[in-house]
Amino acid sequence: MSVKQRMDEIEKLLNKYNYEYYVLDKPSVEDSEYDRLMQELLSLEEQYPELKSNTSPTSRVGSEVVTAFEKIVHQRPMLSLGNVFNEDEIVKFDERIKKEGFNPEYVCELKIDGLAISLIYENGKLVRGVTRGDGRIGENITSNVKTIHSIPLTLSKNIDIEVRGEIYIDKKEFVRINEERKKAGLDLFQNCRNLASGSVRQLDSKVTAERKLNNFIYHLPNPLDYNINTHSDALKFMSDLGFRVNPKYKICKDINEVIAYINEATEYRKDLPYDIDGVVIKVNDIRMQEELGFTARSPKWATAYKFPAEKVTTKLVDIKFTVGRTGKITPNAMLEPVRVAGSTIRKATLHNEDYIINKDIRIGDIVVIQKAGDVIPEVVKPDLDRRVEVLPKFTMIDKCPVCGTALIRKEDEANHYCPNSKCDARNAQKLIHFVSRKAMNIDGLGERIIEDYYNFGYLTDIPSIYNLKKYKNELQSLEGFGEKSVENLLTAIEESKKNSLEKLLFGLGIRHFGEKNAAIIAKKYRTMDNVKNATYEDLVATSDIGDIMAKSIIDYFKDENNLKMLDTLKSLGINMDYLGSEVTLDERFANKKFVLTGTISAMSRDQLKEIITNRGGNVTGSVSEKTDVVIVGESPGSKYDKAIELGIEIWNEEELMGMIGDSYE
Ligand code: IVH
Repeated sequence: MSVKQRMDEIEKLLNKYNYEYYVLDKPSVEDSEYDRLMQELLSLEEQYPELKSNTSPTSRVGSEVVTAFEKIVHQRPMLSLGNVFNEDEIVKFDERIKKEGFNPEYVCELKIDGLAISLIYENGKLVRGVTRGDGRIGENITSNVKTIHSIPLTLSKNIDIEVRGEIYIDKKEFVRINEERKKAGLDLFQNCRNLASGSVRQLDSKVTAERKLNNFIYHLPNPLDYNINTHSDALKFMSDLGFRVNPKYKICKDINEVIAYINEATEYRKDLPYDIDGVVIKVNDIRMQEELGFTARSPKWATAYKFPAEKVTTKLVDIKFTVGRTGKITPNAMLEPVRVAGSTIRKATLHNEDYIINKDIRIGDIVVIQKAGDVIPEVVKPDLDRRVEVLPKFTMIDKCPVCGTALIRKEDEANHYCPNSKCDARNAQKLIHFVSRKAMNIDGLGERIIEDYYNFGYLTDIPSIYNLKKYKNELQSLEGFGEKSVENLLTAIEESKKNSLEKLLFGLGIRHFGEKNAAIIAKKYRTMDNVKNATYEDLVATSDIGDIMAKSIIDYFKDENNLKMLDTLKSLGINMDYLGSEVTLDERFANKKFVLTGTISAMSRDQLKEIITNRGGNVTGSVSEKTDVVIVGESPGSKYDKAIELGIEIWNEEELMGMIGDSYE
């Protein structure tokens, strides 16, 4: 037997033992045998590095250290799910589907509380693991994914496939890690989800390997490509390939069976070894799913039932006020620490003056707190039976807690505002919003760092972010920052200059203006100048843009300071154009595999790729039976001949432009 054959043999054995242990939970060999083989493979790889396979089980221990994660555009966007919170809403979800003329069977699954992952396999080998990111662009975390033993490195069939699922951490492992951290005097993780997401985004994959993450796979994006007609068959198919599929899924004949499943899950939830935050309900029939389609954010054929918010009581120790980026003052409850929904809560929102007065909440009260999913915890009400002493009534502050300016309260609003546009708190908050994930998505500029840089004077306003490089040496000398982290930050800042218009528009923090509105406006107006010059009439004529928002946009662009700032950003090289990043599924492209050959005169290859992926299609490198369409430009290569040989559909430039011409200029 050659060395390579022996290495392949060990790889196969280790994969088999690994699968039996971590996926089937039925080990067939002693740990010592597994370790012995691993050692043998490690030493062979050391002697013959050129023979090491990309999917070697030795990568499970974590080998690679990266300086930053590469950003990857998902082949199909990773959508999230709509939510329902009670029986009424579950029935309505079913009724909406019935109204479309279907009478579906559902599959119910546990909603695992972790983070979503997309796994790409080529020829049966794991080639890439990507986080969800903002749904369109995620991060390449392949080396960390390889350390998760329940994720197969090699499948039982040599196929090309993408699957999606959830990475999570077991409750026991969460306790173990926090106990260790406590001993070491380190900050504790708040809950399993935070721990899992912190662990997969470690730059050193050895750290990830130590965290013993786990996974369940629950979604096959293109089942029809594999002749699979139902979601339950997709689950079985993925399980047969070697993926860990949660066994607690159930096919439900009607919505009553769905409700019964939810009731059962609510009962056994606390006994599960992992956290779940609800139940996912999916239409089983794939063609029915396709006909039902998607809204902008989520599939219409699935929804997530979320367990009710957990409520606990604790003492309200103090009320402190914070100033938001619009100057809005929020009263925050300072609480005696209490555990709720897997996290320790020390602070909760009290919304505004009216909320506190109407509920007669007073400092010193025992209050009821609730937390639902990602929502900021809130104080629900005081427990009046437990108010044993006389407590002073709440009174609202009248000056900004940061700059001392007298607060104002507009007639039709419940909120107080600090009117000083130069208030330090407002400025720092504006920067925090600008760099946030849904806005310019600058990694490495967290809330605390911004506040520190702001206090040191390195950051003053939005454009100052792009001048941070001037302070490179100073930044590196700050405690907790190394050369690498500053380098990464500056790269992330430079990268953000290329963002499409909607990210910048959202980042500006225009009042009442959400992420979705930014996308609508960017798509309609295409450039910042067009948005700037838009009239009120034209803005309100846009679907989803109402009177308040249109006025707010007009007000924003009337302000000389804002215009000056935008000019500065432009001169710093920030992109001000819409790059067509929104994915709108187009049936002529969606879920089809395209191959490009030759030169298309109207656009670059990258532009064409983007056009195809933005319509839900995929571009691959070589022509095979699986290719749906070959796009042929001037002077095509051998791919053209192959396409003819295999009888694959061919589009020339004219045909292509006919299909995209209406939306491409
Ligand atoms: S299906 C298009 N199934 O919940 C369908 N998601 O709130 C995509 N999640 O982003 C999702 N368990 O991260 C699905 N059994 C399950 C799930 C699940 C957890 C997560 C997932 C998703 C989020 C939506």
